Amino acid sequence: MTTVTETPARVSARHGFDSLEDETHIDGLPVTGELPRWLQGSLIRTGPAKWEVGNRTVNHWFDGLAMLHRFSFADGDVNYTNRFLESRAYRAAKAKGEISYSEFATDPCRSLYQRVTAMFSPKLTDNANVNLTKLGERFIAMTETPIPVQFDAETLSTAGVAYEVPGQLTTAHPHMDRATKGMLNYAAKLGPRTSYRFFLLPPHASKPRVIATKPVTRPAYMHSFGLTQRWLVLAEFPFVVNPPTLAFSGRPYIENYRWKPEFGTRFHLFDRATGESVGPFEADARFGFHHVNSYEDGDDVVVDICTFPDAGIVEDLYLERLRAGKPLAQPSLERFRISPRDGTVATERLVDESMELPRINYGRCNERPYRYTWGVGSDGGWLDRIVKADVVERRSTTWSEDGCYPGEPVFVASPGAEDEDGGVLLSVVLDGRKANSFLLVLDAASLDELARAEVPHHIPFGFHGQFARG
Ligand SMILES: [Fe+2]
Repeated sequence: MTTVTETPARVSARHGFDSLEDETHIDGLPVTGELPRWLQGSLIRTGPAKWEVGNRTVNHWFDGLAMLHRFSFADGDVNYTNRFLESRAYRAAKAKGEISYSEFATDPCRSLYQRVTAMFSPKLTDNANVNLTKLGERFIAMTETPIPVQFDAETLSTAGVAYEVPGQLTTAHPHMDRATKGMLNYAAKLGPRTSYRFFLLPPHASKPRVIATKPVTRPAYMHSFGLTQRWLVLAEFPFVVNPPTLAFSGRPYIENYRWKPEFGTRFHLFDRATGESVGPFEADARFGFHHVNSYEDGDDVVVDICTFPDAGIVEDLYLERLRAGKPLAQPSLERFRISPRDGTVATERLVDESMELPRINYGRCNERPYRYTWGVGSDGGWLDRIVKADVVERRSTTWSEDGCYPGEPVFVASPGAEDEDGGVLLSVVLDGRKANSFLLVLDAASLDELARAEVPHHIPFGFHGQFARG
C-alpha cells in the first residue's frame, strides 16, 4: 500500500466529483491478479457523470447527467465501455447548452412566463442516474421520476420509455416478484387525494397493475422499500412534502421537503396478496435511503435499513460541499423489529462500522432470513472502505487501501455456491493518488483481493449497478 502524506484522504476523493466528458470503448483492460474463470457477463452501472452544463454547475451530486458504464468479463479479460444515457434531459442539455429539465435539486433557469407554464406542465427529468434493472430481457435505467429509460446492454444506446408508472414519484429500487419474475415498485400518486401505491409489472408488459394503495396527506421522501414473503414494507421517514408546493413553490424538487421529527418514523405493512395494509407502527425519527433486507420471524417483521440521524445527509451531498471535502453524516446499519400484534417497533444497531449502498446475496436471501450484507463506509470523510457485515454475529470486516474510494460492492454468487457469501464483490474504486479508477474483484467471504482491472481515466462516483450473467 502507498502512504499518502501530501494530500488529505478526503481531498483526494474530489476527483470522483469531476465531470467525465469522454465516451470510450477499451478492449482488454490491464488486469492484475486473476479473475475467476466462472465470472462471465457484465457489470453495468449508472451514475451522474456531468455536473457542468454550459456555464452552469448543477447543485447536487444527484443532479449530474447519467452515464452508463459496462465492464464485461470473459475468459479472464475485462472490456470497458461508457456512454451517456441519451435521455431527453441529456439531449436538451447538449443541444441548448443549458439545463432544461428539473433535477433533484436543480431547476432550469426560467423567465416568469416559463415559471408559470412549468407549474402546470413540469418538465420531469428522465435523467436515470440512480439504478438499473433487468426485467425479462429489457434493461432499464431508473430515477425517481416516472420515466424509466430502456437501453441496449450491448451498445449502451438509449431506446425510450420502458413502462408507465402509476404516479408522479417512484423509486429506483424495485424488487423482483419471485412468482412472476415481474417487478414490484412503489409510486406516489399526487393530487387532491394523494396516495402511496405499490405496483406489479410483469416481465414483458408496459402497463403495471396497482396492487396496494393507502391515502396520505404529506408523503415522505421514499428511496426504497422492503419486501418479505408476505409484506411490502414502507418505512415512512419524517422528511415530508405538502404536494401542492411541488407544483407551486418554484423551488427545486427536494427543497420542498421538510424534516418533521415529531412525526417519528412510521412503518406500514401491505399484504402482497390482498393489498390490505396494517400500521403505522412507530419508531423514533430517522432518515434513510436504502433498505437492506426484510423477513418475517414468526409474527414479527424484521426490517434492516441503513439510517441517518436525520435528513441532513441530503444537504451534505450538495456538490459544492462534496468538492470541498466537508464531513458527512455517518450511516448506521439498523434493525427494526416490528411486532404487529403488540404494535411496537424495537430498534437495534447491528454493527459499529458505518454502512451505505448495501447489497446482499439477493437471489438467495431477499425476503428471507440472511446473514451477510456488503456496503461501503467511512469514519467521517468520503466512503473509503468496503464493509462486510455479519448480521447474525453482529460483527464486520473491511477492505481498504490508502487513497482509494470504493463504490457500491455488487455481490455475484459463484455457480453452485453452498455458502451465502460464496462469490465475488465487484466495486468501481477511485484511486485518489492517480486520479483514475479500477474495477476491484474481492472474494466476498474473506474480502481478499482477487484481481483489479485499471481504467485509464476516473469514473465519477455513482450509485448503483447490476451484474448480468453472460
Ligand atoms: Fe439508491
